[in-house]
Amino acid sequence: VAFKELIDAYNRGLPEGAAPVELRALPADSDLQLQNYSAALGSGRAPFDLLRVDGIWLADFDAKGWLQPLDALLPAGTAKSFSPRALAAARLQQRLVALPWNVDLGLLYSRKDLLLGVGAKAPPRTLAEMKDLARTAQAKARAQGRPLAGVVWQAKAYEGLTCNFMEAYAALGGSPAAVERAQAWERGPALKALQHLRGLLQDGLSPANTATELAEEESRLLFQSGGAVFMRNWPYAAALLEAEGSPVKGKVWVSALPGASTLGGWHLAVRAGSPRAQAAADLAAYLTSQPVQAQLAQRLGWNPSRDDAYARLSSEGMPHLAALRRALKQAVSRPRVAGYAAFSERSYQAVNAVLLGSLSPDEGAERLSRP
Ligand code: GLC
Repeated sequence: VAFKELIDAYNRGLPEGAAPVELRALPADSDLQLQNYSAALGSGRAPFDLLRVDGIWLADFDAKGWLQPLDALLPAGTAKSFSPRALAAARLQQRLVALPWNVDLGLLYSRKDLLLGVGAKAPPRTLAEMKDLARTAQAKARAQGRPLAGVVWQAKAYEGLTCNFMEAYAALGGSPAAVERAQAWERGPALKALQHLRGLLQDGLSPANTATELAEEESRLLFQSGGAVFMRNWPYAAALLEAEGSPVKGKVWVSALPGASTLGGWHLAVRAGSPRAQAAADLAAYLTSQPVQAQLAQRLGWNPSRDDAYARLSSEGMPHLAALRRALKQAVSRPRVAGYAAFSERSYQAVNAVLLGSLSPDEGAERLSRP
């Protein structure tokens, strides 16, 4: 709805005779979006001019010649307003190939009421503390005959699992920079991360279908219905949890994850070969402008990609603002390795196999540490 309103407003402001912008929706799952884009852009007949791209795909899309550099299409200095971290993924070989739209960070959502009920006064700061609190709150609910999950997160075999794994890896001593150098995960921290994540399933803290079915929305719906003590998710969940009619409205603490937060986020890019490249770049500039980003932050909980948009935000509409700032300090980027998509797929398949029990944590760590 927010996007439709934005586009409607933009179309009303277009000069007489200009073609109106049409909005097209893609499936929510980012891997399905990647398949859609690859098919459409690979065929050379993509039915769109401007596309919303996950930051981790930009290098690959650019290498395939699918993106139109924006430098000549935007007013000089446009890039300067964006936060350098968000811009890093969009600036390739001195060319700007996309404009950052929102910056994603892994956050911890905690059920304040349940934690206060077991004597905790604040969200946990370590993974061990999180597990203990989840276990205690779960036991209390069980004693009252209520089923309750401890921790929900994203563990299907897809990109989201790479993000969740990397957070555990970094929280347990792993260095993402070392992954870039070796093109593989460090064995010790990878093993610890696998043991921790598998432990969540084996101890019954995470639902049995975690590794087969849980992505962002599945975990959010479970947590929002009141079914879990903790959830790992991106900032977008905050606005939905606090929406009118949400069963957990007013009952959630948002904090930085224990240890590390994966940096994610989406960009707007113009398709190479688009006959309307200038109009598409103008639209990208509008959608990433300071007032629009502030509006999306307040309405959707999105974390802006430009520093000047923060000035307009107040924690009144965005109670998770402080958590975002803290999470940004401990943000880790996914490793910039050549052929990232294939690297990530090998990684999340190995992690998923350990979660499902078809590989032992040792075997999984061995596989992850092989370049
Ligand atoms: C979020 C992040 C994105 C990440 C995806 C994984 O959309 O912004 O960077 O790849 O989640 O599911």
